[in-house]
Amino acid sequence: MKIALGSDHAGYTIKEATKDYLKKEGHEVSDFGTNSSDRPTDYPEVAFAVAHSVVSGRSERGILVCGTGIGMSIAANKVHGARAAVCNDLYVARMSRAHNDANILTMGGRILTEDQAREIVSVWLETAFEGGRHERRIEAIERYERLHMSSQDSLTEEGRVIVIDHPLVQHKLTTLRDKTTSVKEFRELVQEIAGLMVYEATRSLQVEDTEVETPLGTARGKTIAGKKLAVVPVLRAGLVMSDGILRLIPNAKVGHIGLYRDPETLEPVEYYCKLPKDIEERDVMIVDPMLATGGSAAAAISAVKDRGGKRISLICLISAPEGLNVVRNSHPDVNIFTAAIDDHLDGHGYIIPGLGDAGDRLFGTR
Ligand code: RB5
Repeated sequence: MKIALGSDHAGYTIKEATKDYLKKEGHEVSDFGTNSSDRPTDYPEVAFAVAHSVVSGRSERGILVCGTGIGMSIAANKVHGARAAVCNDLYVARMSRAHNDANILTMGGRILTEDQAREIVSVWLETAFEGGRHERRIEAIERYERLHMSSQDSLTEEGRVIVIDHPLVQHKLTTLRDKTTSVKEFRELVQEIAGLMVYEATRSLQVEDTEVETPLGTARGKTIAGKKLAVVPVLRAGLVMSDGILRLIPNAKVGHIGLYRDPETLEPVEYYCKLPKDIEERDVMIVDPMLATGGSAAAAISAVKDRGGKRISLICLISAPEGLNVVRNSHPDVNIFTAAIDDHLDGHGYIIPGLGDAGDRLFGTR
């Protein structure tokens, strides 16, 4: 089974033990962090990322560990489609599957021993949903979610991972992934998806009231309240995304960042960086289609910060859990907008299943 796993510092030890256990049992694990028990990690972002992996179908189940399991379940259950259950004993673990069809298990790292957690995980994975009368109750929850929950609530907070699950974005992304999609169509789709994503990424821009004369009278309207925007593509694949964004925001300034990977250290090295002079006053959107290891995204964010950039978002089409972790840990203030969180990276740093090499597919270089 494909399982998304995550914890905060208080759940780290149990998360690691659970990961070993799951792998031994032959499951495929995507680890959304955290990576140590020493550095405090706020549980909500990990919970959101794991819950998105589950509700998008990338993972079949999710397992989250914090001190008690409570914070993780509260946060995960904010994601449309998540049914996270706190299970610190076997009975509740069994019932959460049999009656509630829980798709996410949360546990208390400060409550359970490693052996107890393993037993709970094993029972939780093995127990099937009973259906029947319980089905009706789950359907009522799903109906409520469809009517009342938006996946785009409160975009004003900083440091969030926001999965843009709009049907148009998801539809176009599927075509983009298809290996038979031509270079021309691929490029057009990247522009369109980037435009749709920026539509969501700019949802929290401040507006102010204004009036405008129509041919027939005066209308009250809104304009964007003096916010200055900058789009910063990471060369080369980010360029096509920025074209799509500029169609919607033609007055945004554009910066460019070029990075290459040092063959010895494998660290990203900056070879080009030109940003608008007043970058510190602008809302900066760094764009790069693939968030793989996170190394170049983190370096691009650092490059913008070093030159004074303060309010920064990262917009990428597809992310790997590993890359999200790296960026969240190194730049916890940056919002990450992505259209999908995929399974994992392969040995060469490619996102699986991903879409291949975005640069090559955009420019027909392979
Ligand atoms: C962290 O100290 C703790 O509050 C957290 O792990 C969790 O228990 C919250 O529900």
